[in-house]
Amino acid sequence: MVNLSERDERLRELMDDPDCDPQRLDATLRRFGIVNRLVAGWATVYRSRLRDILLSLDRPAHVLDLGSGAGDVVAHLARLAARDDLTVQWTGADPDPRAHQVAQTQQGHGIRFLCADAQTLLERGERFDVVISNHVLHHLSTTELMEFTEDSQQLCSSAVLHGDIARSRMAYGLFSLGILPLAPGTFLRTDGLRSIRRSYQARELSAALGPEWTITAPVPFRLVAEGPGRA
Ligand SMILES: C[S@@+](CC[C@H](N)C(=O)[O-])C[C@H]1O[C@@H](n2cnc3c(N)ncnc32)[C@H](O)[C@@H]1O
Repeated sequence: MVNLSERDERLRELMDDPDCDPQRLDATLRRFGIVNRLVAGWATVYRSRLRDILLSLDRPAHVLDLGSGAGDVVAHLARLAARDDLTVQWTGADPDPRAHQVAQTQQGHGIRFLCADAQTLLERGERFDVVISNHVLHHLSTTELMEFTEDSQQLCSSAVLHGDIARSRMAYGLFSLGILPLAPGTFLRTDGLRSIRRSYQARELSAALGPEWTITAPVPFRLVAEGPGRA
């Protein structure tokens, strides 16, 4: 029986191995779009929070998806904002060239993809109104989490929204079965289950990030950590 009472930070995801099977990695990245649409809840986050932040600027906004992987989340958000007639410039940035290569195949108006991490963006003087991320926090060590969240705040002036899995036995059970049709030829099942075991519960994420951050659960099995921008 898998122990989900605490995070298992020792687990390494197959896709985090620089020498992993490139075909399986490519198939995994290309299927993130379907998986994220099914589980990640960004349409709800957009309607319940992000749209209001963008509207409150009262001018064209610039949003960064940090650790954007295959780029599907930023492409989805771009479509939602376009439907609301919002003018937004979207940037997806990921330091992994394998992810960046897949992201560049995303279609969408006003989206650019960069192969870069947060430090590189800061050094280049890139600044944004809002920074978001999806499924990055659980990948990081405690030190990396602090650097990632600090950097994300320095990169933007309004708000940071980091979305991730909420670890639970039910999430683990449902995912282990629900992912079966999408899993062949990919790392989705193994890495998804490891991701759940590495993920936080709300009180753990709140303790790790500190009082500046608000943790909400916009849809089942998900957490969003919102913090203020500092740019
Ligand atoms: C599970 S993938 C998620 C990709 C995408 N956000 C999604 O939801 O499909 C995690 C991504 O985070 C990126 N990543 C890991 N550490 C990072 C860091 N410190 N800064 C930016 N991106 C990072 C990895 O390269 C990887 O593409």
